[in-house]
Order: sequence, then C-alpha cells, then structure tokens
Amino acid sequence: MTRRTVGIVMNGVTGRMGYRQHLVRSILAIRDQGGLTLPDGTVVWPEPVLVGRSEDKLRAIAERHGLAAWTTDLDAALADPANEIYFDAQLTQVRGKALRAAIAAGKHIYTEKPTADSVTEALELARLATDAGVRNGVVQDKLFLPGLLKLKRLIDGGFFGRILSVRGEFGYWVFEGDWQSAQRPSWNYRSQDGGGIVLDMFPHWHYVLERLFAPVRSVYAQATTHVPERVDEQGASYAATADDAAYGIFELDGGVVAQINSSWTVRVDRDELVEFQVDGTEGSAVAGLRNCRIQHRAATPKPVWNPDLPATEPFRAQWQQVPDNGEFDNGFKVQWEQFLAHVVADAPFPYDLLSGARGVQLAELALQSAAEGRRIAVPELHV
Ligand SMILES: NC(=O)c1ccc[n+]([C@@H]2O[C@H](COP(=O)([O-])OP(=O)(O)OC[C@H]3O[C@@H](n4cnc5c(N)ncnc54)[C@H](O)[C@@H]3O)[C@@H](O)[C@H]2O)c1
Repeated sequence: MTRRTVGIVMNGVTGRMGYRQHLVRSILAIRDQGGLTLPDGTVVWPEPVLVGRSEDKLRAIAERHGLAAWTTDLDAALADPANEIYFDAQLTQVRGKALRAAIAAGKHIYTEKPTADSVTEALELARLATDAGVRNGVVQDKLFLPGLLKLKRLIDGGFFGRILSVRGEFGYWVFEGDWQSAQRPSWNYRSQDGGGIVLDMFPHWHYVLERLFAPVRSVYAQATTHVPERVDEQGASYAATADDAAYGIFELDGGVVAQINSSWTVRVDRDELVEFQVDGTEGSAVAGLRNCRIQHRAATPKPVWNPDLPATEPFRAQWQQVPDNGEFDNGFKVQWEQFLAHVVADAPFPYDLLSGARGVQLAELALQSAAEGRRIAVPELHV
C-alpha cells in the first residue's frame, strides 16, 4: 500500500463553511476513515494547514482537532512545497487576491463559490489557473445532495419523458438580528461586502440547471431587498444594501423553462428548505435536499376547476417516495474526494473554475436583468 500525503492550505476555516463542511465534515472525516483509497490501492492522506487572520481562533481549532499546522502567514504556507492544494472558503470579496497568489505559487486550486464577485474576475482566475497548468475546482455541493442524486437517477432513467419545466423554491426566514439574532453572517446583506442572494444562490442554480437539465440560455430576474435594515453581530443597526430575495426565470437549451424563487424573507411551508418540481410528459417529481417524490402519468389525477366545492382529492398524498437504494455520504466530502483523486491520479473533475465563472456570469446577468427590467441572453464563456 502506497500512502500519499497531500498538504492542503485551508484558508477561511474559522468561517461557517470552512470549519463545519470543509474541515470537519470533509478533510477530518476523510482522515477518520483512514484516508482516501484510490482504485490502484494508493491511500491519499490529506494534511491540512489552517490559515486565517486570527491566531487565537486558529489555535483553538487546531487544539480541538489535534492538528499541528496553522498560520496567519498565507505566503509562508504557499511557499512550502509539501502543500500542493490551496483551498479557499473566505469571504467572496477577498478570495481573488489569495487565489492569484496560490496559482502563482503553482498550487492546485479548490474554492468555495462564487469564485469571484464579477464575471471578469472569475474568468481571469480560470484563465490564470489554466495557463499555469494547475488543477482547479469549485464547490458544487448541491449536485451531491441525496434528493438531487435521486432526481438525476430519474432523469438518467428516462422517467420524465420530455422535460417541460422546473420550478424551484428556496428559502427561509433569516432573522433581522434585533429581537432574535440572525442565523447568517451580516456581510450577506451588504452588497459592498459581496453579499446578496443572487450572487450567493444563482451560481448554485446555474450548475444544478446546467448539469441536470441543459445549459441556461437566458435569464429574467427580479431582485429586491424586502428588509432594508438589519442588526449585525455586534448589535449595531446597518442598512441592508444587498438583495434578500430574487425571483428568476431561466430558459434552457431545448426549451425547458425553469423558474426559481430564492428568498431569505419567506417562511417555510415546504418539506425541505429547497425543493425543485420537475414536470415531464411521462411524469413529475419533487426533489428536496434528501427526499424525492414522484407521480407517474398513469397515476395522475384529473382535477376539474370548481371553486364552489372543497378540494376533492388529497393531492399531496398522491405522490410516491423514491427509495434511497444506497448510502449517501456528505456531499462536500464526496466532492473533496473527487478533487483529491483528480489531483493525485488525474481522475475526471468537471467542476472547474470556468464552470464556476459561468455561475458568476449568471448571477451578474440576473442582477443586470433586475436593474434593466428585461430578459438577458447568456453568452458562452471561454477561457
Ligand atoms: N457551498 C455552499 O453551500 C455555501 C454556503 C454558504 C457560503 N458559501 C460561501 O462560502 C464563503 C464563506 O461563507 P461563510 O458563510 O462561511 O462566511 P463566514 O463569514 O462564516 O466566514 C468567512 C471567512 O472568511 C474569513 N475572512 C477573510 N478575510 C475576511 C474579511 N476581510 N472580512 C471578513 N471575513 C474574512 C473569515 O475569517 C472567515 O473565516 C463565501 O464565499 C460563501 O459564498 C458557500
């Protein structure tokens, strides 16, 4: 058995995503399972180097998890040849500078989305990584959710016949921060800090639509700030300058129409925090984070519109659960394993920085659509 240690500079591990999903649930979970075993028997052993701005926070995380390597000096971490991968879960706005330094140091790049807050910068980063010949990847975790994996299984199995439309509903109430603390960081609500639900969620919708259905050809969006004032982590009021809800319509290659509502100002009357309904000529499905329900053409009721009568059918009871038929691991971890295999053994990894740039492009065009009140075509992007 060959053991291959891979040093990973992990920047932003004091944040929500960096700590919980990437360090604890991915890299430490891979170590807990004894490393990642590749098909040829090689065991990949990820060795994280924690990077951030606060010595106290880094030391506390390192001690909690028995890790030795942490530093506030990114350049020093990048200068160490044992560190082959640079990972970024920092605030979106400060990501570009760190990614450029890592690419210049010859590191392979793996990063949270959005890869940048403008398509110009996102594309520039994709170009730099391509020119430097480094492996590069962006987190596209929703693709690895059990509910969406079941949906993909239905699509691949031809369940839907011709797919007509997709309607997505995402969101929940994010508290304003006054009488109950907000459950998301305040920068999300300030556009000057890279916040906004369009920049946050449309990159996700982009890869979900593109990889499950077809490339997005046009977007129309209405973005708004329903709650204009919020209270931050220090208890101070601030102007919420970023959009907190967006209502988007996307036209896909081949004519599928997708409509996705994204909101931090909606109360949940759904089974899950995100759900996608897909309607096709042969059947329909509703997929969430974990579950997926279906209704086949042959089991479709025939309601007749009559407002004088109460509903005659228990519509929600007429759907059937899609079984798991397998174990679903944490999606962030599964994608990390794929990226490690990509770096060490050249395994395929389609979720690259160019794909991340297409997600940023969709967000940028959606904001333009909202500002101009018109539908906008999505041009092809190339490095
Ligand atoms: N894939 C997903 O589902 C998902 C979900 C949420 C957030 N994200 C992305 O992950 C990234 C981090 O989001 P988060 O929710 O963990 O945020 P967070 O505020 O919890 O963490 C931000 C991290 O960036 C660091 N940072 C570096 N420079 C900073 C600066 N100048 N100001 C403030 N913080 C700075 C912080 O120390 C912290 O470690 C964002 O790019 C976000 O878009 C992805």
